[in-house]
Formats: sequence, structure tokens, C-alpha cells
Amino acid sequence: MNRRYLVAGNWKMNGSSAQNEALVSGITQGASACSAVEMLICPPSVYLSSVAEQLAGTDIALGGQNLSDQTKAGAFTGEVLGGMLKDCGCSHVIVGHSERRAYYGESDEVVANKLKAAQAQGLHPILCVGETLQARESGDTESVLERQLTAVLDAAGVACFAGATIAYEPVWAIGTGKTASTEQAQAAHAFLRDLIALQDAKIASSLRILYGGSVKPSNAAELFAQKDVDGGLIGGASLKAEDFLAICNAAQAHSA
Ligand code: PGA
Repeated sequence: MNRRYLVAGNWKMNGSSAQNEALVSGITQGASACSAVEMLICPPSVYLSSVAEQLAGTDIALGGQNLSDQTKAGAFTGEVLGGMLKDCGCSHVIVGHSERRAYYGESDEVVANKLKAAQAQGLHPILCVGETLQARESGDTESVLERQLTAVLDAAGVACFAGATIAYEPVWAIGTGKTASTEQAQAAHAFLRDLIALQDAKIASSLRILYGGSVKPSNAAELFAQKDVDGGLIGGASLKAEDFLAICNAAQAHSA
């Protein structure tokens, strides 16, 4: 199965109008060299419209970092509806990032509802899963991944993965400079794909599974060379045009 690489920049809570403009302009200038790669930028929601304007006419997609679990507008102070993200030019949205799970109490159930809400409003969700250091050290990596994925499979059915992407992000590798080894990443990705394949082999083989957690220009190529690694969800390194482009170029080099 030939899966196109996806490299997504998760800016998290970083940036300003001036910084974003410089960053997006740097990225768009180098993007034509990575035409085989799908590129995606996920800025903070207040900057989506301005980044969308800058991306107009390019092939770079725009995504939100989070969305409400609601599917209709209403009295939910501070929340952002999936339809509003679409209205601002988003095609994608990150769902269940470990920072949302850890700091904002998003349970597996809430994450599953957000994924469903995203799809109901025409957005392509990127579902984040991953184990903590404690879970890895106690040998619970697979059971954590299985629990997180099963919550979504139970709530939304395997068919939802025909229009979704998974990001495997070991919590201990996010923003720490510690990257999963290529073997650890490949094993986790294969485990996730196999879980989907138990329910639908065709969906499993076309599903993209991104790796996230301290991806940088120096380790991207070896991660992307793994059979089940179909791109990356990039945090820190997506804030520098040069680094983000170098990572996209590493994916380009592995593209058929
Ligand atoms: P990092 O973040 O690349 O800074 O480790 C990745 C993520 O949290 O998506």
C-alpha cells in the first residue's frame, strides 16, 4: 500500500501575528521541493484565519489543535465548534493530544466524541495516542494504546478510520528531546495498524500513522524509513521554517 507522507506542524500555544507571518512565509518558500508530501500547519485557533490567508494558493493544509465535542453552536463559553474551524479554512484537526488529555482532563470518551464531532462537521481528525514513561517502563505500552484506540473503535466504529489519521506520540518523547528509537516507533505503529486490521484490513492498510515526539531534522529520515511510519506530528521543530522544511524533505526523499 502506497501511503502519502503527511507532515503536520503542531504549533501548540506559540506565535504572534508577526512571528506567524515570518514562519509561514519561510515554509511556503521551500514547500515546492516537497510536493510529494502532504503538509499541514496547526496554529493556535485565534490565528487560523490569518494563516489561512497566507496559505491561500499553496498546497499546504490548515488544521486546528482541538475542537469542541459539540456539533451545534450554543452556550459553551470558550469552546470552538468544528464547523468554525472549517469556516476559517481548516481541513484537519488534532484530537486527543496528550497535553489535552493530561492538563485538561480529556478522557478516552471525550476524545472519541471529539473525533466523531470532527467527522460530522467535515474535518479530518488526527487522533493522538501514546503511553507515559511509567506505562512504558512497566510494560504497559500496548495495553494503553489498545485502550485509547478501542475507545474510539467502540464509539465510532472502524469505518471512522477511513477518514482519519493516527499519531503515535509517546508522552515521554514529547518536548523532551528524547525520541523513540526506530524499533520502538515501528513496533507501536505496527501494533496500532494490526488492531485496526483485526476489524478491517483494507482500512488498516491505507491508514496513515504519524510519529510524534521530538522529531527533528536529524532523526526524521530514519523514522520515516520505517514501514509503518507515514509521516510526523511535529511540535518544537515546526516553529522554525528551516527545520520543518528539512523534516518535510526527509519525507519527500522516502516518497516513491
Ligand atoms: P515535539 O511535540 O515535537 O515538540 O516533541 C510533538 C507533539 O506534541 O505533537
